[in-house]
Amino acid sequence: KKIAILNGPNLNLLGNREGDIYGNIGLAEIEAACADECARFDFELEFLQTNSEGELVTLIQQAGAACDGLVINPAAYTHTSVAIHDAIRAIAIPTIEVHLSNIYAREEFRHKSFVSPVATGTICGLGPTGYILAIGALATQIPE
Ligand code: DQA
Repeated sequence: KKIAILNGPNLNLLGNREGDIYGNIGLAEIEAACADECARFDFELEFLQTNSEGELVTLIQQAGAACDGLVINPAAYTHTSVAIHDAIRAIAIPTIEVHLSNIYAREEFRHKSFVSPVATGTICGLGPTGYILAIGALATQIPE
């Protein structure tokens, strides 16, 4: 089985960015931890980051065609993007939405997710552990 983990805008800055909210663990470290967790389930992993909304749409479409499950942290596009909502809606694979921070404990504009209604499930507020839990969640959601 193959899964994609897609990361949206500014997540390339993780580790340097707003450390009080996002911690000091970088995206490369999260990728390494995800690779270890994927090995436990024998999942092949595609781990990608883009700052571009259109690129994220393309990557979701490609995951839908080539992968068995998707973990996505759409970052700020979570709160704005009908295009990402539609892209996830258009694919048939289980999709777990992840946020490092608890978006419901932050500014009002982060309380709305365009992604949650089309995600299989959502994990937020648990930091990098959320990615690890999402991989375990996919293991229960991907059909044999
Ligand atoms: C985020 C939360 C979003 O509100 C924010 O725009 C991000 C990261 C998170 O992982 O907590 O860039 O998705």
